[in-house]
Amino acid sequence: MNAYSIKELLSSPPLQKEVVINGWVKTFRSNRFIALNDGSTLSNVQCVVDFDKFEENLLKQIATGAAIRVTGTLVESQGRGQSVEIQASEIFIHGTADPETYPIQPKKHSMEFLREQAHLRVRTNTFAAVMRVRSALAFAVHQYFQQNGFYYFHAPIITGSDAEGAGEMFRVTTLDEKTPPLDESGEVDYKSDFFGKETNLTVSGQLEAESYAMGLGKVYTFGPTFRAENSNTSRHLAEFWMIEPEVAFADLDDNMDLAEDFIKSIINYILKNCEEDLSFLEKRLLDEEKTKPQAERSDMPLIEKLKFVADNEFKRVSYTDAIDILRNSKPNKKKKFQYLINEWGADLQSEHERYLVEKHFKCPVILFDYPANIKAFYMRLNEDGKTVRAMDILFPGIGEIVGGSQREERLEVLRNKIKALDIDEKELWWYLDLRRFGTAKHSGFGLGFERMVQFATGMGNIRDVIPFPRTPQNAEF
Ligand code: 4AD
Ligand code: MG
Repeated sequence: MNAYSIKELLSSPPLQKEVVINGWVKTFRSNRFIALNDGSTLSNVQCVVDFDKFEENLLKQIATGAAIRVTGTLVESQGRGQSVEIQASEIFIHGTADPETYPIQPKKHSMEFLREQAHLRVRTNTFAAVMRVRSALAFAVHQYFQQNGFYYFHAPIITGSDAEGAGEMFRVTTLDEKTPPLDESGEVDYKSDFFGKETNLTVSGQLEAESYAMGLGKVYTFGPTFRAENSNTSRHLAEFWMIEPEVAFADLDDNMDLAEDFIKSIINYILKNCEEDLSFLEKRLLDEEKTKPQAERSDMPLIEKLKFVADNEFKRVSYTDAIDILRNSKPNKKKKFQYLINEWGADLQSEHERYLVEKHFKCPVILFDYPANIKAFYMRLNEDGKTVRAMDILFPGIGEIVGGSQREERLEVLRNKIKALDIDEKELWWYLDLRRFGTAKHSGFGLGFERMVQFATGMGNIRDVIPFPRTPQNAEF
C-alpha cells in the first residue's frame, strides 16, 4: 500500500479507506492520541490508538520526536481541532527519541536556543512554515523570470574580482598556511596558488551577469554570495543568496519597473500558495508583538502587510529629495538620529532608511540617483557629474532589500572611474571588453533573498530564515 503525505491526505481525504502515513510524533496524549507531522504541511494528523490492541513495549517507544509509520482507517473525527483522524491498526517504530535528551519538546523554545539546535529546529511549526515559504519564494523567483523571457545564468562562485569594491571577501587558497611561498618582496606568491592568482568567494554575480546579458539579452542569477563583513546585525549574513537580473538595452526606469513588478509577483505567489503557513506565521507574530511596547509594534498584521506591498505603488524619490526630508525631520532636528544628516553626500544609515519608509512615506520606497562617491564603480554617471544612476529599494522593518543600477556603458567614462578609484585596470580587462565590443545601455539589481524571506514571514532575525546561518564566529553544522 502506498504511503500518503499528510498534505495529500488532508486535501482529499480517502474516508473509510486504509491508509499509511509516516512522520514524527509531535505529542502523544493520554496514551491514546498521537499528533503526527511529516513536514508536508503545517497540520498534524491525529492517530487514535486503542491501547488494548498494542503491546505496552511499543506504546512506550512513542514519544515526541520519534519517527513512526501508522497504518489504519481514515475516519471523520469526533474530536475538536481536526476533520479526520486515523484509527491505528498497526504502528511501526522507525526510530525512537529519548524524552530525556531530545531537545525539541512540545513547548515554546527561544529562537536563540533553536539556533543552537539548527539541525532539529525544522521540526518546529515555526521553522517548518518559514522553510516552506522560503521554498515557495524560490520557485516564484524562477517562475517570474522564466515566464518573462529571462535565462537562468550560473555565475561562478570562485572569482578573482571584487564586484562591489568593498574588499570584504573570503579568500580561496590551497597554499600551505604555515609556510606559503613568498615572492622577491616577501609577499605571498599567489602565482603558485591553485589558480595561479589570488581568488575569493564571490560577493556578487553581477559583473559576469553583465557579460551574459550582453549576449542573451535578459538573464538572472540566483545563487549563494559571500561577504566577510563583520556585521553582527539581524539583517546580515556572511553567506546569503542573491537574485540578480541583468537586462540589455534597459535604463534605470526600466530597472525600477522590473524590480517592483518582480517583488509584487513573488509576494502574490505566496499569498496564493502559502495561505496556511502565512496565517500561522501571522498569528505567531501577533503573539510575539503582545510582549513588545506599543511603539515598537507593527501596525499591520503580516498578511495585510504583504497585500499592502503587492497592491500599492512603491514611492520613487531621488536621493537629493530624501536628504531634504531627512534634514528637516523631527529626529534630525531633535538630534535623535545617531548619525545626523547635515549635508548632501551623507551615506544613509538604516535609521534613516527606516524613517523614510516607516514614518514618512509609510510604504516601500525606491531611492535613486545617489552621490557617485558612496556607490560602486560600475554605476552610470549622470549629466551632473556627481550622481550615479543607482537605486535602492527600502522596505518596512527591513531597510534595504534591493540594490541596483544602470551600468556605465561608456568605455572612457568607466576607465576614468576605475583609475580614480585606484583599481587595477588589468584585473577588469574582460569587463572593459564589454564596453569595447557592442556596448549598450544595460541595468540590473540584486535582491537579498533572505531579507525577502524575512519580510514575507515576519521573522525578526535573518538567522532564522536560512537553514544553517553563517555569521561572524559561527559556522556550526
Ligand atoms: O546592494 P548590494 O551590495 O548590491 C550588489 O551586490 C549588486 N552587485 C547587485 C546588482 O546590481 N546586481 O546587495 C544587494 C542586496 C542588498 O540590497 C541586500 O538585500 C542583500 O543583497 N545583502 C545582504 N543580505 C544579507 N546579508 C548581507 N551581508 C547582505 N549584503 C547585501
Ligand atoms: Mg546595497
